[in-house]
Amino acid sequence: MRALQSLALLLLLLVVPGTRALAQPTTAKPPVVKHDLAGREQCLMCHAAGKMEAVPDVPASHADRTNETCRWCHAADAAMQKMDPPAIPHALEGRDACLMCHKPGVMEAVPDAPADHQGRTDKACKLCHTPAPAPKQ
Ligand code: HEC
Ligand code: HEC
Ligand code: HEC
Ligand code: HEC
Repeated sequence: MRALQSLALLLLLLVVPGTRALAQPTTAKPPVVKHDLAGREQCLMCHAAGKMEAVPDVPASHADRTNETCRWCHAADAAMQKMDPPAIPHALEGRDACLMCHKPGVMEAVPDAPADHQGRTDKACKLCHTPAPAPKQ
């Protein structure tokens, strides 16, 4: 009986954290930059991995990100700090040119990319927008 109880406890310990992990959002909130940004536009000059010992390195997920992108996520006033980017509700096949449809004013039936998206290119969209779990058929 004792053995059975410990087995049950062990299973519980194994299962519960796993379930919690699944329930968590897939994307973490980007940490807000706390330092002054004046004169620090070249973020990677300091934050590139291994550059400066006293500076936190960009994580491996950041491999292709350029200096222009950093504020989109890390600025205190970035939309990313307040809300989750909407998921992509449609299939992506043949739709790599996101702005062909989402550029403001181009197609009436398509939701416009918001004004703060100025300067963002097709390559960047999927940094933040990910396909909805069950795409529409
Ligand atoms: C001159 C070097 C330098 C430049 C340029 C620089 N940073 Fe930093 N950054 C630092 C240092 C040092 C820290 C850690 C101490 C602090 O927060 O001030 C830091 C901290 C951060 C953190 C916080 C990390 C954490 O764990 O809280 C973020 C986010 C960040 N920087 C983003 C940026 C972005 C975005 C830019 C460009 C717009 C930038 N940094 C430009 C030196 C720099
Ligand atoms: C699409 C949003 C996004 C963009 C763009 C982005 N980051 Fe991040 N960044 C994150 C998220 C989310 C985390 C924390 C989770 C992780 O490790 O990926 C993070 C983590 C970091 C950290 C680590 C902070 C720590 O505490 O160790 C630094 C430094 C950083 N980013 C700097 C940058 C710089 C510099 C750029 C531009 C080259 C940049 N980020 C572009 C979302 C972003
Ligand atoms: C052929 C036109 C077209 C292309 C290309 C396209 N989309 Fe869409 N997108 C739409 C339409 C239409 C909708 C409205 C919802 C629906 O009908 O699926 C939409 C909806 C969205 C939404 C939801 C907006 C909201 O308000 O919830 C996001 C996010 C999105 N698309 C992102 C993207 C990204 C990222 C790409 C490129 C990888 C892309 N789209 C390429 C036509 C397009
Ligand atoms: C740094 C993260 C980030 C990037 C990169 C990004 N978006 Fe967004 N997007 C957001 C957030 C956050 C929102 C919701 C807040 C808002 O409306 O500003 C949003 C909203 C949208 C919406 C919904 C507008 C509405 O009225 O429902 C569309 C469409 C969209 N983005 C398309 C795009 C396209 C196309 C690209 C690439 C050119 C792109 N996004 C790049 C973060 C991002």
